[in-house]
Amino acid sequence: MADSRETLRAFVVGHPISHSRSPLIHAHWLRGFGIDGEYIAIDRSEAEFTHFIEELKTSGRWRGGNVTIPHKEAAFKLADRPDDLAEELGAANTLWLEDGLLHATNTDGHGFTANLDQRAQGWDKTDRAVVLGAGGASRSIVQAIRNRGIGEIHVVNRTVERARELADRFGQQVHAHAMSALPEVMKGAGLFINTTSLGMKGEGSISIDFSPLVENAVVTDIVYVPLKTPMLLMAEQQGKRIVDGLGMLLHQAAPGFARWFGRQPTVDDTLRQMIIEDM
Ligand code: ATR
Repeated sequence: MADSRETLRAFVVGHPISHSRSPLIHAHWLRGFGIDGEYIAIDRSEAEFTHFIEELKTSGRWRGGNVTIPHKEAAFKLADRPDDLAEELGAANTLWLEDGLLHATNTDGHGFTANLDQRAQGWDKTDRAVVLGAGGASRSIVQAIRNRGIGEIHVVNRTVERARELADRFGQQVHAHAMSALPEVMKGAGLFINTTSLGMKGEGSISIDFSPLVENAVVTDIVYVPLKTPMLLMAEQQGKRIVDGLGMLLHQAAPGFARWFGRQPTVDDTLRQMIIEDM
């Protein structure tokens, strides 16, 4: 057996955490590269999280890890060196230790754009995007598509104040709207993103007319259970290009793996199929 001191270790911490598919993803990559490494899920409540981070900094056990709901904002605050992405979002999902300091970034937005790059080439040629929802996921996606040069981003949310707060964070390119404005703001858009839980198993769904979008528009959902949400089915039937949310999950994991384990993993069909079979 390998010397346990040489095993590279990383984690995902959240609450609850049992549903997380991240251990499967990282185990697949570790196996593929033949790395002596370990990636495990850790359940910590909000009350326990600060202590967890203090231990992380001092124990010498971990290379780093992922942080998920509900700890992304606390992780950002407790990090010694958040990068610019995490700083702008006020939230971090990836941590690593370097020279005794805890570094943090947020890879959700990268996961989103890398998934579209792989599955809907040319998606970023549009100048107008519509984002449904204004929560944490929406925030990282708006940041990522703005950084890719999408000129006008329209955030539509049930609670319009939340959309306004999000728009204020990003400045002039990002506009906030109530749900009733949806048909109007969709006119001429080439990208439509659902970041809400609408259409998820057990959640309600809404009927959307996608015809105001441009002809070859891309419609994508961050929900991936079911893989093809009612919203994506609707868009497909209306002749739009659709991209499911599973790839975002897979791609957001890659930068962390590269940091902790030193190899750049790829998101391929074998990995995708493995996760689908586990769902
Ligand atoms: P996340 O971090 O995953 O984005 P969140 O911060 O809880 O999660 O945000 C959930 C988003 O889904 C919000 O935009 C929410 O709208 P409100 O801000 O009005 O709450 C949206 N959402 C959830 N359920 C919804 C529903 N039934 N109808 C419309 N929007 C919904």
